[in-house]
Amino acid sequence: MKVLNFGSMNIDNVYNVDHIIAPGETENSTGIAHHCGGKGLNQSIALAKAGAPVWHAGQIGDDGKMLLDILSESGVHTDFIRKIQGHSGHTIIQVDKNGQNSIILFGGANRSMTRDFIDDVLSHFERDDVLLLQNEINELPYIIDKAAERGLRIFFNPSPYDELIASCDLSKIYMFFINEVEGAQITGKNDPDEILSEMKKLYPNASVLLTLGGNGSVCQTADETCHQNIFKVTPVDTTAAGDTYTGFFIAAYLEGKTLKEAMTLASKASAIAVTREGAAPSIPTRKEVDESTITE
Ligand code: RIB
Repeated sequence: MKVLNFGSMNIDNVYNVDHIIAPGETENSTGIAHHCGGKGLNQSIALAKAGAPVWHAGQIGDDGKMLLDILSESGVHTDFIRKIQGHSGHTIIQVDKNGQNSIILFGGANRSMTRDFIDDVLSHFERDDVLLLQNEINELPYIIDKAAERGLRIFFNPSPYDELIASCDLSKIYMFFINEVEGAQITGKNDPDEILSEMKKLYPNASVLLTLGGNGSVCQTADETCHQNIFKVTPVDTTAAGDTYTGFFIAAYLEGKTLKEAMTLASKASAIAVTREGAAPSIPTRKEVDESTITE
């Protein structure tokens, strides 16, 4: 069984600020850093560091060497990463004094993949392999349809949520990874219990992992519903916390861990990530997570 992550790779330009800037306001930044990121890249690195066999597929531009390097150094297979002319995806991220962020995303190379490229990548994967997707690349509806035809199990993190999601056939999704905002956008409900019951009505065959910020996370499958608290830490930078959770959860789930075990591992990994700066650089190894003494 192999994991294919068709996803974004971004250069994150991170500015430290006192507070997230308001319309019309100018604010001095107290620091700047350039990190590797992108929801796709972060989730691939989390999967690999957690021990899963993961192939990342996607595109980088002329400036993307650092993205390729960090993926291979982290143990991600990079055979299906194509270099094209132009800019890689990049972001401008504000991180405030409480570690909260706001992100402007420029898709760049992530958004010009061709169907020929997608078909070629998918031809290397077969029934019951796993496909992980986020919403920072082009041709998402096509990828979902073609992967479903091949019998891949599709794990989907519809983030950032936008109108493109409505053109995807979400009945083909095996498992959703959503937060409360995305849950509300998909279901029209705000209460977590209502989001879960509406998701069951809309997509009866899919499992749902719903993250609840400070209230932890809940996972609903056909057989059980399981809750997990957060691990208590002082946040420095919350960027990639959700990506770390997703990667570690999927890796543990595919190993055959129980839902509770997978959620505990993922929750602990994401808590460690928020104590560190940057997206990809903040993602811990499996050993660091196993040896950490942080508590719920
Ligand atoms: O989820 C965090 C990521 O979102 C950042 O690394 C940034 O690149 C954006 O894609």
